[in-house]
Amino acid sequence: MTRAVVNDRQLHCWRSCSLLTTDNDRPYGPFPFLDYRMRRKLSALTEPPASWPSWPQPAPNAEPYVLDALHSGRWAISSMYNGRRLYERRFAESFASYLGVRHCVPTDHCSSALVMALEALDLENGSEVVVPALTWVATASAVFRAGLVPVLADVDPRTGTLSPETIAEALTPSTAAVIVVHWACVMADMPTIIEFAGARGLAVVEDTAQAHGAAWQGRRAGTFGTFGCFSMQHAKVLSCGEGGALVTDRTDMVQRLEELRADSRSYRSTPHPGQLELAETTSVMGSNFGLGELNAALLCAQLEILPEQHARRNANYLLFESLLAGSSGPDLLHRDPRQDQLSLYEIPIIFPEGDNNEIARSLTKLTGLNFHTPRPPLGQSRLLQPWTKKTLSPLTRRFLELHRDRAHPNATHLTSHAVLLHHSAFLCAPEAVHYLAGVVRETMETVRVG
Ligand SMILES: Cc1ncc(COP(=O)(O)O)c(C=O)c1O
Repeated sequence: MTRAVVNDRQLHCWRSCSLLTTDNDRPYGPFPFLDYRMRRKLSALTEPPASWPSWPQPAPNAEPYVLDALHSGRWAISSMYNGRRLYERRFAESFASYLGVRHCVPTDHCSSALVMALEALDLENGSEVVVPALTWVATASAVFRAGLVPVLADVDPRTGTLSPETIAEALTPSTAAVIVVHWACVMADMPTIIEFAGARGLAVVEDTAQAHGAAWQGRRAGTFGTFGCFSMQHAKVLSCGEGGALVTDRTDMVQRLEELRADSRSYRSTPHPGQLELAETTSVMGSNFGLGELNAALLCAQLEILPEQHARRNANYLLFESLLAGSSGPDLLHRDPRQDQLSLYEIPIIFPEGDNNEIARSLTKLTGLNFHTPRPPLGQSRLLQPWTKKTLSPLTRRFLELHRDRAHPNATHLTSHAVLLHHSAFLCAPEAVHYLAGVVRETMETVRVG
């Protein structure tokens, strides 16, 4: 009898609930009652906030700096020197100082910085570069762009990042370098990886697109490898819409990097008005990967508020972590205690059971936040398709050969069990974190009960 009543209510919910009316809704999926049950349970929890933090958030100095650049007479590094210091130079200096690294060469994208890093290493055409299977496609496509072959390695199941063990499985006699990605919200164990790679003569590049300011025993991500590559694309914690940077301690590489970034030109030490600030130093053939001056001005402003945003976001994440601790799930990525500074990008919440697409949809409806699922590992990604470019043919052949029998079970597990939440959600008030943890915990319970 009771059962019939419940089913009537569930049916009523399916038909009338305004949250279940879009094409994406699948009321007959594996958890057809998830939304309904959750909504009942959640009435007992704290209220959701009236609104969630927006993203991006312009810094107080964003407008004055961008306006200043707008009227500066210089919109590009390849402009005539007029006595004014470029925001691009100022950003390079501030970002290097923030990271505790000697040099920063700003770029238009992280993808370009990755290409430059690989070109700067001067590897033989067709050499192999190990990249994690769990990353944005640019980590691997940059390898092709540099005339090299990416080899997709599995990731550590607890951190989602490369480890010496997973790198070892991808090595061949042609391996020349490794690109380590600090994925989502945790850092890879760089000291161990650097030691492992050093012993085998492999260069290490850090893809730090998702980890501005993260630190391992006080040392910032991006400063362990020969080069660190950052993205300042719209969604990143430090953003100017589209932008990037390459950092290094290698003073002997700076001119080469600048030339790779600005069509074989590098900065003059003493520019004169009426003269280009870039001189044709021409030691290596470059490309135009320069960061625009309006974007650089915006970055200078956004960098000023990054530490405060990190502090708020990280405190909320640690609260979230503590609220979920001790419950029987869901899981968060393992955070090594040696990582003493967090930098959140997309926070994976791992549900060992259930369909993560369905869970993401349900959490999105319940909270008003955008929960989504990770893209598949790169071996299955629709975005990594070198065979569509004839110029890459020899590299593609080797790539396909190398991956014929290669599986990435840990990356596959994470992408099919995690839901992701953008870091901006954690710029909320701490009360909202209590609400969020409650929803996530109850979702887990509901999925488990089935
Ligand atoms: C890990 C990783 N690498 C590289 C990139 C590419 O960055 P960009 O869009 O600045 O080229 C991204 C962008 O999301 C990324 O997440």
